[in-house]
Amino acid sequence: MKKLSAIVLCAGKGTRMKSEKAKVLHPVLGQPLAYHPLQRAFELGAELAVAVVGHQADDVERELAARFPGKPLRFARQTQQLGTAHAVRAAEAELQGFSGDVLILYGDVPLLRRETLAALLAAHRSAPGPLTLVAFRPANPKGYGRLVRSEGKVVRIVEEKDATAEQKALTECNAGIYLADSAFLWEALRGIKNENAQGEFYLTDLVSAAAGAGAQVAVVEASAEEVAGVNDRRELALATKVLQARVNEAHMLAGVTLLDPATTWIDESVEVGPDTEIGPNVSLLGATRIGAGVRIGQGCVVTDSVIGDGSQVKPYSVFEQAIAGARNQIGPFSRLRPGTELAEDVHLGNFVETKKARLGKGSKANHLSYLGDASIGAGCNIGAGTITCNYDGVNKLPTTLGDGVFIGSDTQLVAPVSVGEGAYVGAGTTVTGDVPKGALAISRAPQKNIEGWVAKRKAKAKK
Ligand code: UD1
Ligand code: CA
Repeated sequence: MKKLSAIVLCAGKGTRMKSEKAKVLHPVLGQPLAYHPLQRAFELGAELAVAVVGHQADDVERELAARFPGKPLRFARQTQQLGTAHAVRAAEAELQGFSGDVLILYGDVPLLRRETLAALLAAHRSAPGPLTLVAFRPANPKGYGRLVRSEGKVVRIVEEKDATAEQKALTECNAGIYLADSAFLWEALRGIKNENAQGEFYLTDLVSAAAGAGAQVAVVEASAEEVAGVNDRRELALATKVLQARVNEAHMLAGVTLLDPATTWIDESVEVGPDTEIGPNVSLLGATRIGAGVRIGQGCVVTDSVIGDGSQVKPYSVFEQAIAGARNQIGPFSRLRPGTELAEDVHLGNFVETKKARLGKGSKANHLSYLGDASIGAGCNIGAGTITCNYDGVNKLPTTLGDGVFIGSDTQLVAPVSVGEGAYVGAGTTVTGDVPKGALAISRAPQKNIEGWVAKRKAKAKK
């Protein structure tokens, strides 16, 4: 089997973004623009991908490398942007020793579909020539390179600025996506000159190089939508919307109910099990996994988290690096912060905040609590308003509760502290020392009732 590698051009400035941030780092559905073509290249089977970077190269390299840990992604610098052919040449050194097919993509084209790339690869592998490209027919071809055909065969691409009036009337346009045999590519690139209206080294001259040598250039067609480049923030938003709809449709076809897909944001990286129902305005982001038969109510934001089968998350709950097991009942208005780990059948209610907190099977904290740096056993009941005082101003300190512990309402657990299995803590207690297994801890000033106090005070005030 012939080998495959990829070059993704990311060196351009992106002036129209009007941004301090490099264009290819602007996010489309949670991932930088350039992530998308790189990811498609790896999915297609590229054993190596080279991103050609120029403007803000350090930032672009750092951000993209972080998105592909362990993947064979390399970077090549193109310090001056002298044209698309010049950009591809910049990648040659990083592909030294590679022999096979080279896929060329743009870093600012995020919507290219897997199916189109698979069709490109199939067409290229069955075509006799060394070059296959993607064409499309935009509503308005102005600005794009046009495919020039002679006796049906593509013989060259002419750029808008170099085109005659007759050529400008051609509607078959170059998408800028190519598959080229590596030996042909490096050889042909060496012959490309910048004698054209823009004084640039045009990658499109590969076509006349192949045709001139008597080879056929194969063409695969794509929709205008999927090959559209992102040049400004309006196009960024449009691309994001298209990708959102595509991801949401795939989930619906896989058995997930979306009550209002237009307001549901699911990153490409997220997994959702069947028979899960997702309400309006829900965001599922990053490395999130949602089980089967889960219900997620309106307005929840779940980032890098896991929610187990059959759990119910009521509206406006927020998860961040949290794990919830099966059949949990969370929310409304719960906040699960990093390091939260909930076993099965756990209940967290409104205005409950957890951080580095583990709750065992069947434990409940239903109202108004902060549980931080806490290890809580199974079958515990945490009363309303319970607070772990986990910070002494310098260090974060742990609270440990055994199984079956009952914490009365409005308790403060001053860490480090532990409450033994089956112990009770009376409402309003400030727990400053460990509570033995099976004990009752209570720290309340005795209640005093002063009979008739109110009437006396009012009489005094009238004088
Ligand atoms: C190019 C094609 C044109 C095609 C169009 C599709 C050439 C000469 N023309 O047009 O036929 O219809 O794409 O969008 O190839 N880049 C670099 N370094 C450079 C120049 C460009 O990295 O020196 C990157 C840009 O960041 C961008 C991509 O290459 O992502 C395409 O560059 P752009 O200037 O948009 O291409 P055009 O010349 O407009
Ligand atoms: Ca362009």
